[in-house]
Amino acid sequence: MAPASLFDMSGKVALITGAGGGVGGWLTAGLAAAGARVIVSDVSVERCADLISLLEAGKAEFAVAPADLRDPRAPENLADAVKKEFGALHVLVNAAAINTREPIANVTPELWTEISDVNLKAAYFLAREAMLVMRATGGGSIINVTSINTEIGLEGVSVYGANKAALAQVTKTMCIEWARYNIRANCISPGFLMTSLSRPLWEDADRASWILERCPLRRPGMPSELVGACLLLASDAGSFISGTSIRVDGGLVAGSPWKSVPG
Ligand SMILES: NC(=O)c1ccc[n+]([C@@H]2O[C@H](COP(=O)([O-])OP(=O)(O)OC[C@H]3O[C@@H](n4cnc5c(N)ncnc54)[C@H](O)[C@@H]3O)[C@@H](O)[C@H]2O)c1
Repeated sequence: MAPASLFDMSGKVALITGAGGGVGGWLTAGLAAAGARVIVSDVSVERCADLISLLEAGKAEFAVAPADLRDPRAPENLADAVKKEFGALHVLVNAAAINTREPIANVTPELWTEISDVNLKAAYFLAREAMLVMRATGGGSIINVTSINTEIGLEGVSVYGANKAALAQVTKTMCIEWARYNIRANCISPGFLMTSLSRPLWEDADRASWILERCPLRRPGMPSELVGACLLLASDAGSFISGTSIRVDGGLVAGSPWKSVPG
């Protein structure tokens, strides 16, 4: 029951998509620091350069598996790469996502498909491929990175929000259908973080102050602050946690403080 052994990921294999991004990069580094062998996946290998240097410096065992998740064959190809490289899979983190902020009036069927293919379709089918590998090797943990946008609406974020809400919903079905294979499925639901995906929000003074006024902790979250939730869900520390979602949002969905302290 010592924390070091509860959260120990030694000998486990973890595949992380969007590993070149703020969240995916930190989650990969966190899993590797806990002892996991990690498979770094992103559409852009260049974006993974700093992470790869970090993994090399830490003498982590890792492989790089580039994948463009818009390609319908990407999930199967990634599963093949995992089997070839390590012969097993214990953790999948679906962290890749894209967003284009447009009012519903401007959303075309093409834009809908472009965003949804990465955020929802690829995550769904990669989880399915991961399940096929995991069930052959004793089980595992699937972690879908969603968003507080599953619970609150945001102006101009209709497609991404719908994708994330659907991903949260389907995670419950994954939990139910795959428990018999000793596979757990959960979500991490971040609030407003400081990464390239959310940079346009933080660069807009009105929107940045709107967020800071509403977030009880009154600051952006850092992607490193998701590592704890990820290790909990990935490791034996979370062995009875399945079908749920952990919010990491500085309290924003719980409610908002007054602009000034009363009294
Ligand atoms: N940043 C936030 O405030 C925030 C808030 C809530 C949820 N999230 C979620 O966190 C996760 C990571 O977001 P982030 O903030 O690190 O974003 P990011 O833009 O820093 O990283 C996303 C990564 O996904 C990769 N990617 C994009 N399209 C791809 C494709 N077609 N195939 C493969 N990879 C592709 C990008 O190259 C990038 O490295 C996402 O699921 C996002 O929805 C982020």
